[in-house]
Amino acid sequence: MDVTVSVIKADVGSVAGHTRPSDELLEAVRQRVEAEKGGLLLDARVFFCGDDISILMTHQRPPGDEAVHRVAWEAFRAGTAVAQRQGLYGAGQDLLKDAFSGNVRGMGPQVAELALRERPNEALMILAADKTEPGAFNLPLYLAFADPMYSPGLLLSEELHAGFRFVIMDVEHTEGDRLITLDAPERLYDIAALLRDTHRYVIAAIWSRKYPDEQAAAVSTTRLRQIAGRYVGKDDPVAIVRVQKIFPATEEFGPPFALGAFVAGDTRGSHNLPLLPVPVNTPASTFFCHPMVAALGFSMRDGQLTGPVDLFADPVWEPIRHRIVAKALGMRQQGFFQPAMLPISELEYGGITARLRRLDAEFRVEVAKE
Ligand code: 13P
Ligand code: 13P
Ligand code: MG
Ligand code: MG
Ligand code: MG
Repeated sequence: MDVTVSVIKADVGSVAGHTRPSDELLEAVRQRVEAEKGGLLLDARVFFCGDDISILMTHQRPPGDEAVHRVAWEAFRAGTAVAQRQGLYGAGQDLLKDAFSGNVRGMGPQVAELALRERPNEALMILAADKTEPGAFNLPLYLAFADPMYSPGLLLSEELHAGFRFVIMDVEHTEGDRLITLDAPERLYDIAALLRDTHRYVIAAIWSRKYPDEQAAAVSTTRLRQIAGRYVGKDDPVAIVRVQKIFPATEEFGPPFALGAFVAGDTRGSHNLPLLPVPVNTPASTFFCHPMVAALGFSMRDGQLTGPVDLFADPVWEPIRHRIVAKALGMRQQGFFQPAMLPISELEYGGITARLRRLDAEFRVEVAKE
């Protein structure tokens, strides 16, 4: 069966700062989505990571479908109304436009969509991150899909020998989508040269090369400040990743995420801290608003989802979290000094740029006399 998997995510308000949505807010979102089950939607799930609510939907419309996007938009509007009534922080934070105009792309929510022909045992994983940016998935996905040191299936499985095709987006570009397609392993160094710059070049999609019609991954790529023209919170990405058989196995995503690579995000979206794998529905906390990622595993048949398995919840992740938290503490001990705080180009926080403009007037130029 041909099925489209859509994940649309937004922050429409949270309790006591940027922590997590209230139960009542979640219920309002869930109710709007559930009303479409058995009709427009084959199946759906609503969950959160930090203050961001993800709506996972399976359906038979194409990616970008107006009716499907409208359900998510209306669900987030219903959630916003609850957030306003409860006085939650950042009510409607990621809904940057007032009127729905056919598609939530460019309106604030993050969107990842993947159209597939179901395998008899379709297995997939949803990644949802908070307090970070879409480029946060660059390194883990590169390691899982292109590096046999992390992803042994690239050597061990005939199905993976041909490698994967990376579609990378320049997210600084504003007129349309600026994309490049590069094949691993032949273009590995070109892929690496782009993906190292996580603020600008972001994996948008990954495809199988042995089966060129099979898409392996879809990642959201929205940069909120490109829409709002100012800092309005971090972009907090989501991704859909198909796993097993012709794709890397579920466990081949563990070691890349166990790295805890430094990413931009954290307090006021203005620092570099390691990406922390957490169980689903974990609130952000006073611990710096640490960048975090949840992974949900599902099986799917006829668009019906079984699961989730909470993929970062098992005991193995506890010592890994301790190590990553120690890295975070080490970095934050140097306070605002780079690279703990982001460079000015990525800060986009009005306060420091206004201060620097004022200081600019106090500079003087001294030229040494011969
Ligand atoms: P496949 O069954 O997808 O080949 O994977 C085997 C596996 O997951 C062992 O790690
Ligand atoms: P969110 O984008 O998750 O709302 O983060 C806001 C922030 O800067 C928290 O410090
Ligand atoms: Mg928020
Ligand atoms: Mg958030
Ligand atoms: Mg955000």
